[in-house]
Amino acid sequence: MARNSCFGYLTLLLLTLTGSSIDAQHAPHWWDNRNSIIHLFEWKWADIAKECEQFLAPHGFAGVQVSPAAENVVITGRPWWERYQPISYKLITRSGNETEFADMVRRCNDVGVRIYVDVLLNHMAASNEGNVHGTGGSFAYPSAKNFPAVPYVESDFHPTCDIEDWNDRLQVQNCELVCLKDLDQSSEWVRERLVDFLDHLIELGVAGFRVDAAKHMPAVELKLIYDNVRDLNIEQGFPRNARPFIYQEVIDHGHETISKYEYSPLGAVTEFLFSEEIGGAFRGHNQLKWLQSWGTAWGFLPSVDAFVFVDNHDNQRGGGNVLTYKTAKQYKMATAFMLAYPFGISRIMSSFDFVDHDQAPPADANEQLLSPAFDEDVACVNGWICEHRWRQIYNMVDFKNVVTDADTAIPADGEASLRPSWKN
Ligand SMILES: *[C@@H]1O[C@H](CO)[C@@H](O)[C@H](O)[C@H]1NC(C)=O
Repeated sequence: MARNSCFGYLTLLLLTLTGSSIDAQHAPHWWDNRNSIIHLFEWKWADIAKECEQFLAPHGFAGVQVSPAAENVVITGRPWWERYQPISYKLITRSGNETEFADMVRRCNDVGVRIYVDVLLNHMAASNEGNVHGTGGSFAYPSAKNFPAVPYVESDFHPTCDIEDWNDRLQVQNCELVCLKDLDQSSEWVRERLVDFLDHLIELGVAGFRVDAAKHMPAVELKLIYDNVRDLNIEQGFPRNARPFIYQEVIDHGHETISKYEYSPLGAVTEFLFSEEIGGAFRGHNQLKWLQSWGTAWGFLPSVDAFVFVDNHDNQRGGGNVLTYKTAKQYKMATAFMLAYPFGISRIMSSFDFVDHDQAPPADANEQLLSPAFDEDVACVNGWICEHRWRQIYNMVDFKNVVTDADTAIPADGEASLRPSWKN
């Protein structure tokens, strides 16, 4: 075990020193020794700016994953997933407008907290209604595959079909995921619109992207898009020639026709198997002593490629082994393990409370999102859960920052007690 750890450390060091272009989109551009990303799901831009200044920077968080920034379709009842149905690339959503977005990114960068945007490159809104409107005042005609505010027309999309056989690569990548109009990324026009959108966000100072539904796009076409995106903005404190950090949503527990390893050369990849296994272990379905081999031996991607989490905004609604804030004690233990054990790029979920799968985020009678309110213990009180403000979680974020260069020493007798030992 100790030998493996040393080897892992050496490998990392070599990768850092060579810094080849293959690694470019793997670099998250963190400040100093910070290294945890927090997903402030459905938060408003103005609230995130304040959170960076007042809580995240002082507690050593490295970055924030923000909800989709592009104009989305307005759906009755305002389910959270309406944000995953874009109708234009105007930066106007219930989280705020472009001015507020730009202000958030600048203020977070100023205190060393990076912004990563959840981006929808796979599809546009689904609807059987003729005419829909969006959060930025645009209209669209999804049933006719007509999105004039971009503009996209029918020929920019794949022909309509359902994904019925998930082992069929062509269906998974060219048919419609839950009826979402499926953009054809082999079209240069489509790729240029997507690159323009990503460039716009980079210009405003973001450090990278979470690519939604990446598995539903061929890796070769994603590579064409990523390769053509501009370098990060030096005026926002990034070095020259810095490439955006890219992490791709690929759900592959290890048996999928379309494999996570197809995407890892392009950037990091979400490791859903990590979430499943850590949940199983801390729910008591597996013995914790087995965690001593935690890592690729469990079928995970290599540490440099693995984007890891206890739960995310999708699978926290899916049940099964996945742990969520609803089982707070086990959730804190699993999160502590994730942050103590040196494996992968870790993201922490910050949820809003929900009973129903589709439930909207906390909002007022006019459907405006609520700002989080805090009690004396800094915890959130008005429908926002704010796992990142739980003492056990933010203290472990700090722990991970401090032991970043330390090795783990695990006794050979297999007891799963982790003992960080200082390198320096
Ligand atoms: C953006 O939103 C803010 C706050 O609501 C508002 O004051 C400002 O006028 C808006 N800017 C634009 C360009 O719409």
